[in-house]
Amino acid sequence: MTKEKRKMRVSSKFLATLVLVLVSSVANGDPLVPALIIFGDSIVDVGNNNNLNTLIKANFPPYGRDFVTHRPTGRFCNGKLATDFAAEYLGFTSYPPAYLSQDARGDALLTGANFASAASGLYGGTANLYRAITLTQQLNYYKEYQTKVVKMVGKAKANDIFSGAIHLLSAGSSDYIQNYYINPLLRTIYTPDQFSDILMRSYSTFIQNLYGVGARRIGVTTLPPTGCLPAAITLFGGGSNQCVARLNQDAKAFNNKLNSISLSVQDKLPGLKLVVFDIYQPLLDLVTKPSDNGFFESRRACCGTGTLETSLLCNARALGTCSNATSYVFWDGFHPSEAANEVIAGNLLAQGVGLIS
Ligand SMILES: *[C@@H]1O[C@H](CO)[C@@H](O)[C@H](O)[C@H]1NC(C)=O
Repeated sequence: MTKEKRKMRVSSKFLATLVLVLVSSVANGDPLVPALIIFGDSIVDVGNNNNLNTLIKANFPPYGRDFVTHRPTGRFCNGKLATDFAAEYLGFTSYPPAYLSQDARGDALLTGANFASAASGLYGGTANLYRAITLTQQLNYYKEYQTKVVKMVGKAKANDIFSGAIHLLSAGSSDYIQNYYINPLLRTIYTPDQFSDILMRSYSTFIQNLYGVGARRIGVTTLPPTGCLPAAITLFGGGSNQCVARLNQDAKAFNNKLNSISLSVQDKLPGLKLVVFDIYQPLLDLVTKPSDNGFFESRRACCGTGTLETSLLCNARALGTCSNATSYVFWDGFHPSEAANEVIAGNLLAQGVGLIS
């Protein structure tokens, strides 16, 4: 990596810091919001799937090799997720614990929890296919979590935590990549457009239910350019090495609907701040212009051959795993590297000012 490129990567960190300073009126070391609550799929799962009878796990090397502890945690990454960086930028000194883990107890719960489950989606059938936790069940766990917090700090204080907390949802990728595109049952019944309508109904219901239990700050990520994920190019690219246009088209159409439905949901629910975080463009920029951000590899992922492997196939015996992932946009066939997550998190923060203020 040249000095120039490194400087650019630093500058995205600088931007994040700048935003943080701008929005922070109280410089007393407290986080900007009381808690961080996370729902969704493998982009944000920090270990809930470790405790499930599912094949979709990442609790073995080389996952986690660059994490703070240099151990696998269940994160589908070599290091930190974008939401880990986001937690740091918000001033938290720890990450929201996986709700199904031993860490999710006592005071640790007061600054948030993570309910996400790899291979889950907006469509309940996706999670069920992989024995992951459906979004409906994630919300049920959140209600259970709320009961625990109320017991610890009382109803009034607890309600302040729930209404002040940032709630993040990252879902939808698995509905397409791990379900719709490989599931003839769905594909013969629904066009991509009809399928996205089903996902939108589920999304809208989820947001309203979350609002119903006291959430007032909600952020939701768009779909990434799914056609550019290394495994998607391998599986659906017909031998080409280019991003799969058809998949990116579906993702863009989904994202447009997500934006308009979010506006109408926010209109209906007084006091709700609902922000749609665009991760499509930032990730597309990394993929199409990797060197602009100090990356040199965006087609091959670091783990294994880098063209397909994720979960069980990305393991300590996978041949070809790169020795240093900092120049790779993707860690495995479906998931960004820690270095890419840091860039994405800088973008999220810049877009998220409205949620904090
Ligand atoms: C990977 O490379 C970067 C710079 O290119 C360097 O800062 C970092 O220490 C390296 N990491 C490891 C684990 O060798």
